Amino acid sequence: MLVTVEGIDGSGKSTLVKGLAGALADLDPVVTREPGATWVGEAVRRSIAENDDPMTECLLFIADHAAHLRHVVRPGLAAGRVVVSDRYSDSRYAYQAVTLKGLLPDPLGWLKAVHAPFTVVPDLTFLCVLPVEEAVTRLKANREHFEEASVLEEVQQNFLALAAADPERFVLVDAMLPADEVRAFVAAEVRRRAGAAR
Ligand code: TMP
Repeated sequence: MLVTVEGIDGSGKSTLVKGLAGALADLDPVVTREPGATWVGEAVRRSIAENDDPMTECLLFIADHAAHLRHVVRPGLAAGRVVVSDRYSDSRYAYQAVTLKGLLPDPLGWLKAVHAPFTVVPDLTFLCVLPVEEAVTRLKANREHFEEASVLEEVQQNFLALAAADPERFVLVDAMLPADEVRAFVAAEVRRRAGAAR
């Protein structure tokens, strides 16, 4: 079963995923992330830091996804493991739909078409939602270029639209709740779905 955790920067999703590794330890999950599960992540980090060309950056995120699928996600699923990824394809659909605006006629349509032939669609996606002002105050001074409040607002709207279009797959998580409550809720939901999938 493939579980992904999504949300804007500052939504607490990385803390949640780290906590899930412990809370689901008995299921022996593969806990992974995008970007950065393979060497391609280094190129992505450099591209984010240089903030040069949105299309180059997007293609590097997609290359990172391809390597992630090949080396981590598909092998994990083939071994019957629960794979939990901190960010995945929906991050492209939410963030790059913003960064590619004006560069392509239909960024989201293009992103989905590029992914469709080779991606693995998650079974379950948790979307961590919180007010953008709260996310911005949680972020440290050393910001990445996606972390402007106006960008995050648009990205969160994109995530919410993706969730509304696929309510079977998405579960919305109130990221304002205490971290241990969020973790317990998400872990219970993963167990419930994993049990049903068996
Ligand atoms: P991270 O903070 O979760 O490590 O992600 C790094 C940044 O990259 C974050 O601002 C979100 C952004 N991002 C995209 O823009 N597109 C993507 O496909 C992914 C995976 C991340």
